[in-house]
Amino acid sequence: MVRILPGGDERALREAAGLLRRGGLVAFPTETVYGLGALARDPAAVARVFAAKGRPADHPLIVHLAEAGWMGRWARTVPEPAWRLAERFWPGPLTLVLPRAEGVPDAVTGGQDTVGLRVPAHRIARRLVAAVGDGVAAPSANRFGRISPTRAEDVAAELGEAVDAIVDGGPCAVGVESTILDVSGARPRLLRPGGIPAEALAEVLGEMPAPAGAAAPRSPGRLAAHYAPRTPLELVPGAELAARAAALAARGARVAVLTHGAERPAAAAVVERMPAQAEGYARALYARLRGLDAGGFDRILVAEPPRGGLWEAVADRLRRAAAGSGAEEEERT
Ligand code: TXA
Ligand code: MG
Repeated sequence: MVRILPGGDERALREAAGLLRRGGLVAFPTETVYGLGALARDPAAVARVFAAKGRPADHPLIVHLAEAGWMGRWARTVPEPAWRLAERFWPGPLTLVLPRAEGVPDAVTGGQDTVGLRVPAHRIARRLVAAVGDGVAAPSANRFGRISPTRAEDVAAELGEAVDAIVDGGPCAVGVESTILDVSGARPRLLRPGGIPAEALAEVLGEMPAPAGAAAPRSPGRLAAHYAPRTPLELVPGAELAARAAALAARGARVAVLTHGAERPAAAAVVERMPAQAEGYARALYARLRGLDAGGFDRILVAEPPRGGLWEAVADRLRRAAAGSGAEEEERT
């Protein structure tokens, strides 16, 4: 059994920090999702992260810092808007992509000339990184392409013996990953919608960030297929849920429905209600998908969420989950 360390215990946190400093892999809670941590300066430890996740080596990792003052150790220059964003949103669910400093291992950046940095808001994450005393590289603690974990037990189910320890901090408060903003170029670009809505970034930037665009660097959170359950998942407008569930059930499929609305499709084997507010929806989403994925359904139908604000992150993850779960290919054949 993998070791689970209680996050509220100072001695356990010091032990976790010691494991990281010695090149170990430690999963820990952040306010967004659980991260799979390794000492960012240690290429061998970072290589173990890629092996544990089954992640291609050219996809970069986010380096977690204890405070914004550490940015200068990892970024060769910090443009003025990056300082303003850090002041407003750190600690918090925002990752800034900056020109990398000399000495940042290629293993972390996937060989790119930029590095992703974030100061997490979760008390345990900050204390852990502060105790390590240097940057902690941490992707979400799931197998490549799968659903991110928002509870310690999800990490154990995903990665098990591949990690040296898991720090348990209970369920994550935000529930979807950080917003990634590339501030290394002339105009800030939104690489991934996340816990900080683009509208909030615009208040600081004076304009909406540009969309990622086709030239965006390789980044698995941006692959069309990602965050996927094993059960085929489909996004369906709320008004069409009943008809779609009926059509699938007529073919003998056991259908689960996930909706933030009042729909109750009679043909569904299970209908699960989601919170109607984006914050509650995001917090609950990944654990609900895991639960449904384990329920032996043939198909998961999810009501299309609203747009704007934090809903953009929810909609983005659901679209990628649909693309990654095989429902679409199956429809074509
Ligand atoms: O909320 C989060 O961001 C969580 C927690 C643990 O902090 N981490 C997370 O890491 O979601 P990961 O590796 O699952 O997703 C990070 C994304 C990836 O798509 C990665 O390619 C991208 O950030 N990324 C990291 N560094 C980058 C860079 N220099 N340029 C472009 N994309 C980058
Ligand atoms: Mg991830």
